[in-house]
Amino acid sequence: MKFHIKTFGCQMNVNESEIMKGLLTEEGLEWTENPAQADVILLNTCSVRKKAEDKMYGAIGMYGKYKEKNKNLILGVGGCSAEKERESILKKYHKVNFVFGTRNVVDIVNLVKRAKKERFYDFSDKLSEVSYQIPKIPNSKHHAWVTIQYGCNKYCTYCIVPYTRGLEKSRNFNDIINEVHDYAKKGFKEITYLGQNVDSYGKDFGDGTPKLDKLIQEAGKIKGLERIWFTTSYPSDITDSLIKTIANEPKAAKYFHLPVQAGSNKVLKEMNRRYTREYFFDLVRRVKENIIGVTTSSDIIVGFPGETDEDYEQTLDLIKRCRFEKVNVAEYSPREGTIAAKYKPDDIPKSIKNKRLMKILELQKQINHEENEKYAEKIVRVIQEGTTKQGIHYGRTINNKMVMFDSNDELNGKYIDVKVRRISAGPLYGEKITTELDHNFQSEDPTMKLFK
Ligand code: SAH
Ligand code: F3S
Repeated sequence: MKFHIKTFGCQMNVNESEIMKGLLTEEGLEWTENPAQADVILLNTCSVRKKAEDKMYGAIGMYGKYKEKNKNLILGVGGCSAEKERESILKKYHKVNFVFGTRNVVDIVNLVKRAKKERFYDFSDKLSEVSYQIPKIPNSKHHAWVTIQYGCNKYCTYCIVPYTRGLEKSRNFNDIINEVHDYAKKGFKEITYLGQNVDSYGKDFGDGTPKLDKLIQEAGKIKGLERIWFTTSYPSDITDSLIKTIANEPKAAKYFHLPVQAGSNKVLKEMNRRYTREYFFDLVRRVKENIIGVTTSSDIIVGFPGETDEDYEQTLDLIKRCRFEKVNVAEYSPREGTIAAKYKPDDIPKSIKNKRLMKILELQKQINHEENEKYAEKIVRVIQEGTTKQGIHYGRTINNKMVMFDSNDELNGKYIDVKVRRISAGPLYGEKITTELDHNFQSEDPTMKLFK
C-alpha cells in the first residue's frame, strides 16, 4: 500500500506530517510523491486565515477525484481546519473517509486501519503517547523540528489557534532532550524547538518557571549538534535569562522571531496582545544590545477592525525603528469562533488592507537591503540546506541570513564559507570559498567576526 501526505501551514504541521510518514512507513506502507498512485492520502490542513481553509476544500476536491480510478483510496483530513470544521467535513464531503485532530497524529496507523471499515471522525487527545522513540522521517537530513509545546493559552482576539490546537501543554523535558540526542547521533547538525509560545515552555510543570533557556543549554552540550533554533516567541514572555542564554551559548542561533502584530497600543489592546509598543521597543533594544549579531523578524496583521490611518502609521513607525530583517504581513481575516469575529465588524475595506500590506512589504524590502549592506564583500559561514527551484544552492548563517551560491548536493548539511558578491532586498548572493571538507571548521565563525 502506498501513501501520500499533503501538508499546509506552519512548521508544526510539517513536523507532524514527518511523524505520520515515519509511523506509516514503519507499519509497512510505502511513501509516494505521486498522489495518483497512493492508496492513502492524508491532508494536514491549516486554518489561520480563510485562504488557508479554502485550500483544504480545494484539496479535498482535487484529491477526491483519484477515487474515480481507485475505489479503495482512503482520504483522511487532519490539522487545524479539520479541528475547526469537525464532523461537518464528513457530512459535506462524501469522498472523505475520516477526519482527525491536532492531538492524535501519533494514532495515525490505527486511524487508517479503522478507515478501511467505516467513515468516522476522531479528535481524541493522544499527546501522552508522544515519545522520542516514535519513528519520524524528516524532510531534511541535517535539520530537524522538535515540538516542545502544544497549543496556546493566549487567546489573541483574532486567532483560531487556541481553539484548533487546544490549551498549552509542555512536553516532558527529558523526552525532548532524548530526541535531540538521537538526531545528533544520526548526524543532524541543526534543530528547531517548536511551539506557539516557546518562551512559556515548562511554566505548566509546577514551579512556574519557563525552561526554554534550560532546553537550549542542555542541547548545547550535545556533541555533533551545531545550531539550535526556536520559534515562536511571545514578546512579553521572553525572559532576560533566555536572552542571556542565546548570547552566551555559541550553538544558539542569533535570531529572534518577535511577532508584534501591530504598532498602536489601541490595536494591541483590542487584539489582547499583552504588551505595549513601548515594552516592545525595550525588548528589541535588550535583544540587540545583548546578542551580538542578532537578527530579528516579525509578524504583522493589517486591517484589524477599527484600525485607523493613525494606528497604521504607528505600525510603519515601529517597523522603521525596529528594523526587522523580515516581516510576515497578513491582511486581517475574521475567523469564526474568535472574539474579534464575534464582536468586531470586519470594517476595513479589502482595498485598504491591501494598500497597507503592500506599503509594509516595500518598506521592509528597503530595510532588509540596507541591513544586507554590512555583508557586502565579506565572508559568511552557512550550513548548506539544499537548492531552490532554479537549482541555486542556499544556506543560512548562524544569524539567519539566507545566502545563495553555486555548489553541489553532496555538500548539503556541510559548513560552507561564502564570500558575498551581491546583496539584494532578499537574500545575499555569493561564491563558495571553502567547505568543511577542505579544512577544520572549529575555528571562529566569520559571520560573528563581522560584529566585533
Ligand atoms: N504563536 C504565534 C502565532 C501563530 S499564528 C504568535 O505568537 O504570534 C501565525 C501568524 O498568523 C500570527 O503571528 C498572525 O500574524 C497571523 N494571524 C493569525 N490569525 C490571523 C487572522 N485571523 N488574520 C490574519 N492573520 C492572522
Ligand atoms: Fe494565536 Fe496569539 Fe497564540 S496569535 S497562536 S493566540 S499567541
